[in-house]
Amino acid sequence: DADLSGANTLALPARARRLARPTDVAALGELLAGRDPAEPLYVLGEGSNVVLRGDLPGLTVIPAFDGIDYLDESADQVRVRVGAGVVWDRLVADTVARGWGGLENLSLIPGTAGAAPFQNIGAYGVELADCLESVDTVAVADGWAGRFRADQCEFGYRDSLFKSRRRGEFIITGITLRLHRHGARRVDYGGLAERFAGQDPRTLAPATVRAAVIELRQSKLPDPAVLPNAGSFFKNPVVSAAELARLKADYPKLVSFPHPDGAKLAAGWLIEDAGWKGRRLGPVGMHRDQALVLVNHGGARADDVLALAAAVREDVLDRFGVTLEQEPVALP
Ligand code: EPU
Repeated sequence: DADLSGANTLALPARARRLARPTDVAALGELLAGRDPAEPLYVLGEGSNVVLRGDLPGLTVIPAFDGIDYLDESADQVRVRVGAGVVWDRLVADTVARGWGGLENLSLIPGTAGAAPFQNIGAYGVELADCLESVDTVAVADGWAGRFRADQCEFGYRDSLFKSRRRGEFIITGITLRLHRHGARRVDYGGLAERFAGQDPRTLAPATVRAAVIELRQSKLPDPAVLPNAGSFFKNPVVSAAELARLKADYPKLVSFPHPDGAKLAAGWLIEDAGWKGRRLGPVGMHRDQALVLVNHGGARADDVLALAAAVREDVLDRFGVTLEQEPVALP
């Protein structure tokens, strides 16, 4: 039995019945072969996108596969094979330092490389899916080592086959990315657009964009090591064009982004407008600089988190008629 309070960035108290950190596929295979198929199985990375509702029964696996390998390097393109246990921002820093572009907008996202495809991490107009080539997996049922091409991963906004349709069937052991040296950086998203206004995105170095993204994130997102949190606590809700028009009529200042199905609303705006920015309920609250981030001010338990989340959802539903969907995964 192992303490998980330091293994989840919301710092919720919970224990794992059995905890293993395999460092290679062979060790993971042995672990799976020796397990009773009826025993519950959980996979954690850095625990930066989970709400631990209580103790985890059964086996919890934290893949600890290391390695960043640059393959098939040419003047303009490279493939990078990364072990699932590599800390995501260590990977971004390494690729950017070598002059490779593609991951700079995803700087400073907490978590591991193996967790990245699970929810198709994204920020500042870029998603993992944009430069992912394939995902290496081991099947929980029979230990079979396989590989999914990016187009087989059913990626959506903060979603994938691993998170949704085939949840629990695979353990991600590594990912392969395709990065480029030349080409335009993506600086069209709010915050970056203002910062780089008037500059040709083809002349910007990945390191320049990374520095700007780090500055932006640090200005409003709390560092989980200082103020425990799991990033955005809700997804930005997608509504139809008709629904957007209805909302805009009542709330002209509502912030939204274009989306193929209509519009994606800024959940942070809805929560702030509903009065929850910086407001606390017991030991938890919605962050004072970014209302979409639920923070643990100290000593919170799962019930505190769930109570605040429910209160925020209810107020946003009452006020706007919009349902917020929780973003971090609830376990068990
Ligand atoms: N806003 C407010 N009040 C707030 C927060 C936001 O009015 O308290 C409005 C502002 O108008 C702001 C807009 O919402 O311009 C968008 O805010 P922001 O750029 O901070 O991004 P977000 O939509 O709140 C999403 C991702 C973040 C990602 C940022 C930047 C989701 C659920 N969240 O947040 O991802 O870092 O964009 O690209 O899509 C995460 O997934 O954990 C995460 C942090």
